[in-house]
Amino acid sequence: METIPPTLRCLGECHTSELFTDDGAETVTSVEQKKVERSIQEVISVYQQIHSLPQPTLLREQHYQYLKKGLRHLSDAYECLDASRPWLCYWILHSLELLEEPVPSTIASDVCQFLARCQSPTGGFAGGPGQHAHLAPTYAAVNALCILGSEEAYSVINREKLLDFLLSVKQPDGSFVMHVGGEVDVRSAYCAASVASLTNILTAKLFEDTPTWILRCQNWEGGLGGVPGLEAHGGYTFCGTATMVILGKEHMLDLKTLMRWVASKQMRFEGGFQGRCNKLVDGCYSFWQAGLLPLLHRAFYREGDTTLSMERWMFEQQALQEYILLCCQNPAGGLLDKPGKSRDFYHTCYCLSGLSVAQHFGNMDSHNELIVGRPENRLAPTHPVYNICPENVARALRYFHQLPVLVPDQAHNQAPTAGSS
Ligand code: FPP
Ligand code: ZN
Repeated sequence: METIPPTLRCLGECHTSELFTDDGAETVTSVEQKKVERSIQEVISVYQQIHSLPQPTLLREQHYQYLKKGLRHLSDAYECLDASRPWLCYWILHSLELLEEPVPSTIASDVCQFLARCQSPTGGFAGGPGQHAHLAPTYAAVNALCILGSEEAYSVINREKLLDFLLSVKQPDGSFVMHVGGEVDVRSAYCAASVASLTNILTAKLFEDTPTWILRCQNWEGGLGGVPGLEAHGGYTFCGTATMVILGKEHMLDLKTLMRWVASKQMRFEGGFQGRCNKLVDGCYSFWQAGLLPLLHRAFYREGDTTLSMERWMFEQQALQEYILLCCQNPAGGLLDKPGKSRDFYHTCYCLSGLSVAQHFGNMDSHNELIVGRPENRLAPTHPVYNICPENVARALRYFHQLPVLVPDQAHNQAPTAGSS
């Protein structure tokens, strides 16, 4: 393991030369950008006053307490997420696995029973008991159950009905609607491909024309929009690229322009990522954007690119870690978008996931760690396609691949899943 010596990039003199300049043309966007940079300068200066030795610390215990409480009790502020309850399970469970904190078996069993109540009689999972099935909570519920990884957890998933649900939201052009009668965007293809590949119900017919539809979402910027013709955005770019990886079709994307786009979304002063051009840094893109780099690395490697580093992803791993550790931690636990924002479980999950991507280079076979701050800052690695820990992906694939393929067809055997690499 390599630990970065106690010289933080953000304390370096040349760092201020990365501050935004508006070239004399002030706009609403440029004013907001400068405000964010000032707030980050303030955070760094307070840090310098308090710490003679720059060793940013991951507030493990505080994050653990915050997450543990969230599994049992949520404040009124979470009422608006009543249709996203499986997401809360996933965000919290994944954050805990990254912190290598075990979940007591009684709580694990309660989560399984709760998610079972979210499963729709017609297949797939809803945002809460009695609601309609939707692809987003379906993805979250399956991921949460795979993290728990017990027989009780796996057996919650009704695979036959899940396949029925996936077929019911598939569109003739290869795209998916998020729910019956709902909107189309590339998130749905990812949610469908993720749960289908994990639970071994992926068939060629289910994803027929999906790669060509996703290709249409890649635009002139190099990233992907939610649907063909829309602005490139990190959330959708991750979803589209990860789906292509699951379907073994990532080579169809213009990988070089995608690479250039994502690299340009890492903010030169802040160190974190923005979601799209001319927008502000946000901790959650630490995963949606930085998580693309392992996917791209693997794709370039498979294409035989000999110029690839075998030690680093193609982004500033140190700068991202500094942004997360210095600017995105609530001292009482939980992580956030940017200084001045409130903590929440979504940002806790995706800041920690991004921190993990930035700490670990490689895969299960070959691995190189680069940890900013003390070695105790180290998180568990995460699987860049599913965003759950690789051993939990492998265990789920082993379990579900012993079960019969539901709709056997020849092409299914040619559709690789990303978990095996
Ligand atoms: C823009 O919000 C955000 C979006 C348009 C959606 C982002 C999509 C994801 C994060 C992917 C979700 C993935 C799954 C699996 C469901 P904004 O305008 O508030 O933020 P911005 O200013 O940073 O663009
Ligand atoms: Zn965010």
